[in-house]
Amino acid sequence: MPKEQQGLREEWIKLAPHWIAEARQGGDVPRRGMLDAYMLAACGDVQGMSILDSGCGEGRFCRMLAERGAGFVVGVDTCEPMIEAARELQSSKEEYILGDVEHMPFLQDESFDLGVSYLNHCDLADFEANVHEVFRVLKDGGRFIIVNIHPMRSATGLWQRQPDGAKVHVILDDYFAEGERHFKMKCVEITNFHRTLATYVRGFLKAGFILEDIIEPTVSAEMVERYPELDDELRVPNFIIYILKKPQGALASL
Ligand SMILES: C[S@@+](CC[C@H](N)C(=O)[O-])C[C@H]1O[C@@H](n2cnc3c(N)ncnc32)[C@H](O)[C@@H]1O
Repeated sequence: MPKEQQGLREEWIKLAPHWIAEARQGGDVPRRGMLDAYMLAACGDVQGMSILDSGCGEGRFCRMLAERGAGFVVGVDTCEPMIEAARELQSSKEEYILGDVEHMPFLQDESFDLGVSYLNHCDLADFEANVHEVFRVLKDGGRFIIVNIHPMRSATGLWQRQPDGAKVHVILDDYFAEGERHFKMKCVEITNFHRTLATYVRGFLKAGFILEDIIEPTVSAEMVERYPELDDELRVPNFIIYILKKPQGALASL
């Protein structure tokens, strides 16, 4: 494993116990209160489908898809504690593989109806490698649904706040300076990668995908009443969902 990959993996190994504990309580608020509904709607009727979840973590979304009738869900993640945790709750319709989603020789060409990537592209040094791999393993007409941090929010900039802590507005800077961003999650140093919207879209098209839709998730006022932590989501685009389709009769454009 390249040194950079090993370092990124170790960050996730450190974070895993905290991450797994939170997921076992239902997941974080943006997922529970907003993103899950968008992602499930984007996936549509998954009855009987074979589905690949790239960067599946401890398997939360795989289980949701299996519970909704997916025929078979394969989750791939590079972090061993995440895969072990996923296997603890695994049903007969799920399989978890320890592996790098940028290079998945263990998966056969054209073997999946649907691919999903739930907040994983921001973690990848080479997201295009993953996009090519998912393109390869999807059947013709198969879709790849990706939710990621919105490029407006993965750039640089926190909330500007009043002295009492009230949010004034988000600062956006360094949008065109692509590359690593470092922050702490549950006291663990995590590396993310920022890229512009154009870089992502170009990467999807270069792999051969059709871009069917872009969704910028938000919430209703009622949802904010229920989950006050989601107040940001009414004001700024924190997340983005890309819906990609592998055309019929496609050849990978490698
Ligand atoms: C933000 S978490 C999301 C986990 C899961 N999709 C979810 O929504 O709960 C990102 C996951 O990507 C995994 N990951 C990061 N780089 C990876 C890579 N190159 N190959 C496979 N998994 C990777 C991490 O181990 C971590 O579990």
